[in-house]
Amino acid sequence: MSAQLLDGKFFASQIKEETRRKIEILKQQYDITPGLTVVIVGENPASQIYVANKHKTSLELGVNSQVIRLPEQVSKEELLTVIAGLNQDPAVHGILVQLPLPEHIKPYESEILEAIQPVKDVDGFHPVNVGKLATGQEELVPCTPHGCIRLLELADLPIKGKRAVVLGRSNIVGKPMFHLLLARHATVTVCHSRTQDLAAITREADILVAAIGKPKFVTGDMVKPGAVVIDVGINRVGDKKIVGDVDFDAVKEVASAITPVPGGVGVLTIAMLLYNTVKAAQIQHKVQV
Ligand code: GUN
Repeated sequence: MSAQLLDGKFFASQIKEETRRKIEILKQQYDITPGLTVVIVGENPASQIYVANKHKTSLELGVNSQVIRLPEQVSKEELLTVIAGLNQDPAVHGILVQLPLPEHIKPYESEILEAIQPVKDVDGFHPVNVGKLATGQEELVPCTPHGCIRLLELADLPIKGKRAVVLGRSNIVGKPMFHLLLARHATVTVCHSRTQDLAAITREADILVAAIGKPKFVTGDMVKPGAVVIDVGINRVGDKKIVGDVDFDAVKEVASAITPVPGGVGVLTIAMLLYNTVKAAQIQHKVQV
């Protein structure tokens, strides 16, 4: 069997189109132009590419996009001052501090993310938004796991009643993915580096989400025949090549549907960021479109 290919670009373009329509309505009916500011510290090459893509897509959709570049050596206090200014700026509806932060301010990551006003937190990382997600009040939801859910929904792949297994327990993907699947009535297991007999658990999954950052970790024998496999991994191997957490060539013969890497979940993440920016603008202006 060869699995259905879940093309991220196809689904991302639907989400972007819907977002573009909302932006038009916000502009025409309410004179609101959603604004997004991305703050990037230092020169991490992968982050530079992500931020450039976010900026380009924002402009394409008509979002007022701004990138603030701070030097590698910036102090925690200086970064907090920049965030405080953005919190006060009514033209800025969404604030995103690109991760990872340089080593010297990494220990303050929580303090920095918590400095962003929850209503402007388009990453959905602030404890207020994490708490809302965990209590079933989805508002500003982390972009990558939310993109995975939208992909399942747009592809008409049912979640309710299914056994879902999430590989990885990060704050960015694994944990929010757990809450999103649970809220949609899946039976969810989260596995991680200390999980024993991992393959026995993954083989039970109707929906398997891999977000552990290990190239080609999920092999064909770890997947139940007919499962839906979502690969969140972006692993650089060698100079240029990018591979996922799933051994695509082997798993596509077992799964019923699978996301490729690249061209799968990655493109959905940016679409969901713009979706969140529009949502943040609606929350701040107390309007609904
Ligand atoms: N770095 C990698 N993924 C993300 C993300 O979703 N948000 C932020 N802020 N940084 C990231």
